[in-house]
Amino acid sequence: GLKVVVIGGGSSYTPELIDGFIRRAAELPVAEICLVDILAGQHKLDIVADLARRMVARAGVDSKITTTMDRAAALQGADFVVTQFRVGGLAARARDERFPLQYGVLGQETTGPGGFAKALRTIPVILDICRDMTKLCPEAWLINFTNPAGLITESVQKYTKVKCLGLCNVPIHMKMTIAKLLDADANDVFIDFAGLNHLVWGRKVWHRGIDVTTSVLEKMQDGAALTMKNIPDLKWDGDFLRSLGMVPCPYHRYYYMTDSILAEEQAAATAGGAGTRAEIVQAVEESLFKLYQNPELAEKPAELEKRGGAYYSDAAVSLISAIYNDKREIHTVNTVNQGAISGLPINCVIETNCVISKNGAMPLTVGTLPPEIAGLVQQVKAYEMLAVEAGVHGDSNKALQALANHPLIPSVKVAKQLLADLLSLNAAYLPQF
Ligand code: NAD
Ligand code: G6P
Ligand code: MN
Repeated sequence: GLKVVVIGGGSSYTPELIDGFIRRAAELPVAEICLVDILAGQHKLDIVADLARRMVARAGVDSKITTTMDRAAALQGADFVVTQFRVGGLAARARDERFPLQYGVLGQETTGPGGFAKALRTIPVILDICRDMTKLCPEAWLINFTNPAGLITESVQKYTKVKCLGLCNVPIHMKMTIAKLLDADANDVFIDFAGLNHLVWGRKVWHRGIDVTTSVLEKMQDGAALTMKNIPDLKWDGDFLRSLGMVPCPYHRYYYMTDSILAEEQAAATAGGAGTRAEIVQAVEESLFKLYQNPELAEKPAELEKRGGAYYSDAAVSLISAIYNDKREIHTVNTVNQGAISGLPINCVIETNCVISKNGAMPLTVGTLPPEIAGLVQQVKAYEMLAVEAGVHGDSNKALQALANHPLIPSVKVAKQLLADLLSLNAAYLPQF
């Protein structure tokens, strides 16, 4: 059977992942799921591992659940490595979400300066993991869930030899939500996705061979907001959707409704407000871990739906199964462009539909993006490429250029202030600087 290593195993999402492996146990023989964490996460890790053991036992699946703080030992003999760690924890995320607000800039986990700070903290760790993998399990697949997932995957693709796919639940979440909107079976819905992570569009939606894009857009403007738990469900502008003719992802609100969403964030972050998303998640996590400790609980609890990661397990485990079983199915993943989107560098990472087999991902041709979306994609990709260089080499020139080129940052002056702040706030996690 397979050995699956989960780095950041103490995550409250782990029961979600275990649920996915249980559901697909018949097609994916997993002998061992090894949960890896760091000392600071050991308490969470133990709780999650006990729940995971109860889950597989109840389901009658004989996968062994093991835990360790010794990453190298875990990677020995691994077939699949799933990364879902958070350097600096939710406290660092809360800082990412707050520090830009004083400059009138959006504070978000993956988008804008917050996402940049998270990338800088994460890149040294992911490169370290890849060094270990190259030595200890060179044939293993890395399924990277750690955010900012596209940018982190690009760092791995450009600077290591590890076989890697980046994964996000946004595409599958859009598919499931749109299927509900259409009152259709999700298996009958096909979405032609293309773009970047957290900047992906459904260029066309098909239902049993019929192009239903227009009716999806109409339903969205009728109030079906198409959002996720972690994003304010601001209503889409009907004229805008009609003129765009494509389905934006929930994260597009940060670009298309920047002023409204910033106002919401600023209100939430003031004393007496609901707090930033990280602060809300800290409370959700606390109650989840209370539930997880209940010895009667042997399945993923419904409360997990309060997190933004719905359908994560479906995306992850079906992807792993498609590789292992050489299925040649279409999945939406973050992978090297290879010319699929013309006009973007061939070696950059995009989020797009790919044929998945034992050999990995073959992106389907997208061609030239229309001007409605091409500019934004180019600009965000330029930011991401600069951020990768900054994060890998600890290069503050590239860091300043990354921020100055980000479409949500208004001036060089603000970019410099943001950079100074984030370098000092995160100094403990930035060995490369
Ligand atoms: P979390 O704060 O619970 O962190 C998960 C675990 O990572 C913790 O137990 C922590 O101790 C551990 N960790 C921290 N540094 C580590 C290191 N150097 N090595 C190993 N483990 C380490 O985080 P979470 O909310 O469960 O999210 C986990 C990650 O998954 C985040 O990066 C988040 O952004 C990402 N995520 C991605 C998607 C997606 O769509 N791609 C969706 C949800 C979450
Ligand atoms: C979605 C996104 C993830 C993001 C998560 C946040 O699932 O795809 O990339 O990390 O939401 O959810 P949270 O509950 O942590 O706010
Ligand atoms: Mn995501």
